[in-house]
This record gives sequence, structure tokens and C-alpha cells, in this order.
Amino acid sequence: MVNTRNVSAALRLGGGVVETKHKKYKCPVWIGELWTARQRQMHPVHYTVSYRASFKPELPEFFIRQYLGEKRNAVVFDPFGGRGTTVLQANLMGHRGIHNDLNPLAHFIAAARRVIPTPAALIERLEKLDLDAGPEPDGEDRERLGPFFHARTLREINALRHCLMPVAFDLNGDPELRYIGLTALSRLHGHSDGFLSAYSFPQISILPEAQRRNNRNRGQKPEYRALKPRIIRKLRADLAEGLPSHYHRMAARNRYTISDACELGSLRGGTVDLIVTSPPFLDKVNYVQDNWMRAWFLGVEQQVAGSGLMMDSDPGRWVNFMTRALTAMGRVLRKGGRAVIEVGEVSSRGNPALLLEELMLEQLPLVCPGGRLEAEALFINTQRFTKLANCWDVTNNSRGTNTNRCLVLRKR
Ligand SMILES: C[S@@+](CC[C@H](N)C(=O)[O-])C[C@H]1O[C@@H](n2cnc3c(N)ncnc32)[C@H](O)[C@@H]1O
Repeated sequence: MVNTRNVSAALRLGGGVVETKHKKYKCPVWIGELWTARQRQMHPVHYTVSYRASFKPELPEFFIRQYLGEKRNAVVFDPFGGRGTTVLQANLMGHRGIHNDLNPLAHFIAAARRVIPTPAALIERLEKLDLDAGPEPDGEDRERLGPFFHARTLREINALRHCLMPVAFDLNGDPELRYIGLTALSRLHGHSDGFLSAYSFPQISILPEAQRRNNRNRGQKPEYRALKPRIIRKLRADLAEGLPSHYHRMAARNRYTISDACELGSLRGGTVDLIVTSPPFLDKVNYVQDNWMRAWFLGVEQQVAGSGLMMDSDPGRWVNFMTRALTAMGRVLRKGGRAVIEVGEVSSRGNPALLLEELMLEQLPLVCPGGRLEAEALFINTQRFTKLANCWDVTNNSRGTNTNRCLVLRKR
């Protein structure tokens, strides 16, 4: 029997989730398989586009359900919003969302699903686009994109790109074109015939020289891959399941901001009910290099490169950054509201795993405008494939991260 006394009466944790005491933590710790390890179990529109270091939609779903229960129309915020998983799930569950990310690419990906048109409307709009009439890619683009695409495919991508760029960041402009652009962005490179490139990696835009090597090793040359049928196939799959009737009513009230999570000056204090977020894990992901082709597609390469995203290997500087980000989150939370911060255990060759939630716990309680943030609980999601000989010092994988460690803070 799960003892929920210490967390909240609202918690309804399933079997197999246990509360554990550990001297390292000054709050209750819950460990178990909090959500399924199976892939792609949530609404298919979540999977329109992959994104580096995104969390599974099951994570925000779990915490929205735990902390907002039957309530509807709450304000759910993600200050490191990435592809918009939190806000999309909040809208699906009948809440309003605020999405923030310093990376304009993340802003586009999230905001392009504020309005989700019907497949019929999207296909009609797509068919009207003349992708043979756009401007030719310039010499530099042909040079770096040539290893990925057949010349005719590249011309079609470039034509769509030129239609999209003027409206890509306009929340009120042409939702069909923005959704088509989002779908095209998700098809740029990958390893099946559904993608536009020769065989490449789906999640990371590798550099042109790496793709040239890839082509040589595989004995491949990019062949013509027509853009329109691939977009149609993908959007039909993503939109196969209807949206709840409240989706657009909620999403119409979303806000999308491009700001440093340490500042958030455009958001009013005391207005957010729940934050569900995941900050960068030190420098484990290079959000600029890994996304260079998507940034090119949207015409924002310079903005992304100069945005000053947090990518720092130094734990001390990370703590400093997170202390400022938590203070900013504390300001926008209403009293009694919660912030769920997902981090991982970060390993590097030869060093013991660094548990990022411990670094945050050392800063708590934290005074913030309008109150203070206190640690309420820690949830550690362990998946079946993870053999945790010792849940605190995970040793089974030597690199990367392999648990979701979600620290829950409450504003008092
Ligand atoms: C771990 S990812 C979040 C992924 C997200 N949970 C999702 O499901 O897509 C961290 C995000 O923080 C963003 N980021 C990095 N530095 C930032 C900063 N100083 N302020 C706001 N966002 C930042 C990155 O662009 C990235 O999208």
C-alpha cells in the first residue's frame, strides 16, 4: 500500500511505486515506473517532430493529473519549453499553457501547433503551393545541403522555406502553412523513405562532412524524394486521432515567449498554477549544432547561434544558472503552486554520476518574489530496462542519463 501522507492527499500513485527514505534528501522520495516505458502511447500530434532531450508526454500528463486533478482551465507553464510537450499536453487536458524557450526553433515548433488544422485543409493548402517556382538555393546552401538532398528535392524544400519564412513567427499568420512547415521540418533528414534526405540521422542534423562520409560508406547518392507526398503521409498519421473539443479553446489562450528562463519579465507574478519543465543538463546536448539544418529551414541560424542557450559543463555555473531560473519561476507561480523540475543523472566517462536534483536541493528553500520555494517531493521514474542496483548512485550505464528525476517545489 502506497503511503501518500507526506506528499499530498491528491496523489494517486499506482502499485509498484514506493516511498523511500534517504538521508540525502529532506523530502519524501517516490520511486517506480511512474509512466509506461512503451513508446508513442500518447496523442499522435505529440510525435509530429522529434526534438533533442525532449521528455515523453507521459511526464507532464502524470504531474498535471497529480497536481491539478479534476480542475480545468489552470495555467501550466514550461520555461524551458523545447518542442512544447508540456503546453500541448496541458491543452489536451483542458488547461491553458505558457511556453518559453530562448531558442526560436523551439518557439516555432511549439507555436505551430497552437492551431491544428484538419488534414483536408492542410492538403488543400499544400496542393496550392507551387514548389517548382521558388528561388534557387544559393551556392553555399547547395554546397552544404547537397550531401543530404537531390537537387530537385532541395529546390522544393527551398521553395517551401521561402513561403514559410515570412509567417513562421507570426502567431496569427497562416496556421495551415505553419503546420505544413512544421511537418516538413520533421521530414528533413532521417533513415527511411519517409524523409527527404539520403539515409541520415533523424534527431540530429549531422554536419555536411559527416554526411559525405556517410554517403561514401554506404555507397549512396541522394535520390529525388518528392516533398508533397511525404508531408501528406506524415500529417495524415499525426492527425489520425481527433482532438478533444476543448483543445483549440485552450490553445487560443496560450502564450509563447522567447526569453531567458532566468528573466521571464513579460510574465506577471503569481499567475501560474503549475510548472512542468526540464532544463538543459549541463552541456549534454548541443542545441545549436544539432539543429543547424532546422534553423536554416526557418531562416534563423544566426538568431539560434547567438541566443546564449545554457550549455555549460561546469556544475557550479549550472547551479548558479538554476538558482536564478528557480527564482524567476518562483515569482510567476501563485502561492501554493508547484514547479516540477525534471533532471537526470549526468555521467561522464570515469566520473561518478552527478545527480542534478541534489545540486538544486542544496539551494532550497529559496526566497523568491512573493514567497519562497520549498522541496515537497522527489519522484524518480525508473523504467523496466533500467537495472537499479542502487537507486541513488545509478551505475548500470556509464554515459548519458537513464532515469527521470523530478523534483517538486511548492511556493509557500
Ligand atoms: C531539456 S530541453 C527541454 C525539452 C522539452 N521538455 C521538450 O519536451 O521538448 C531544454 C530546453 O531549454 C532551452 N534553453 C536553453 N537555455 C535556455 C535559457 N537560458 N532560457 C530558456 N530556455 C533555454 C533549450 O533551447 C531547450 O529547448
